[in-house]
Amino acid sequence: MAKHTFLTGDRPTGRLHIGHYIGSLKNRVALQNSGDYDNFVMIADTQALTDNANNPEKIRNSLMQVALDYLAVGIDPQKTTILIQSAIPALPELTMYYLDLVTVNRLNRNPTVKAEIQQKAFGESVPAGFFIYPVSQAADITAFKADTVPVGDDQEPMLEQTREIVRSFNRTYQRDVLVEPEGYFPPKGSGRLPGIDGNAKMSKSLNNGIYLSDDADTVQKKIMSMYTDPNHIHVEDPGQVEGNVVFTYLDVFATDTAKVAELKAQYQHGGLGDVKIKRYLNEVMDGVLRPIRERREQYAQDMASVQQILIDGTAHANDIANQTLQEVRDAIGFNYFK
Ligand code: TRP
Repeated sequence: MAKHTFLTGDRPTGRLHIGHYIGSLKNRVALQNSGDYDNFVMIADTQALTDNANNPEKIRNSLMQVALDYLAVGIDPQKTTILIQSAIPALPELTMYYLDLVTVNRLNRNPTVKAEIQQKAFGESVPAGFFIYPVSQAADITAFKADTVPVGDDQEPMLEQTREIVRSFNRTYQRDVLVEPEGYFPPKGSGRLPGIDGNAKMSKSLNNGIYLSDDADTVQKKIMSMYTDPNHIHVEDPGQVEGNVVFTYLDVFATDTAKVAELKAQYQHGGLGDVKIKRYLNEVMDGVLRPIRERREQYAQDMASVQQILIDGTAHANDIANQTLQEVRDAIGFNYFK
């Protein structure tokens, strides 16, 4: 069977949390370990800069943290190329060519970017680089001819837009150079974890996330402060399971589904206290997070080796991206000196 290729990435604007883990990191490790793919994971610092131009420090500081998070969850540098977006010069050149195949109106209709523009309250001051980041993402994906992109559901509009660019490029220049990618998404229902406060989104600004790098104490404190059912005051009171973050997390992380069903029944009936379910969740989360934490600590002891992983990965990535760029220039006819 011909090998598939996946490429994916994250903007380094902070450490990664368990939402990222469920939303895509877990899938990436599974695809990597299937052996069916050439694997590329990109730290998208250029994309992070599109709405952080005046705060490159934040990106710089997050970059190594994200690299550690990748290694911690089991991205294996022997199997997966980890690369830094800003160190791949072919990407901005591809982006420039693709921009000519996309209309401003089409970019305006990208629902994820639209929502982010709202959420970030840019007002009239949307940076042009931010506005066009779906096109730079198309460059990321196509430079490696990825057919598969393991990401969260919110990234589907980027893939749709990438497919349109691929089709437009191949049609316009009459050559099958670029490959149409498909998303690879988490199983339905487990795509989005709420924050510990019950907010639908886990975000740094709300300080409501559990980070892969949190120590055991911090995780326990966060779980003990989790939003449950505000009307469940006395242990004897019947409690609500829907919207109760402890049960939402148990549904996603606990493997003993019979036990979770039993706890739910007891909680709804009354007689089961919040502290008990939180203790159980803490146990479950420790089982998930401990190996991640231990691997992270191991790598963190030798940051020089982590840096070398990024140097090697980026060098390999440049070879491949430059090859695609050459094919793209040839297709356009920008090869005057050949
Ligand atoms: N937009 C993605 C995010 O914010 C990050 C990203 C950049 C990406 N380039 C990519 C994801 C290419 C997949 C493929 O999470």
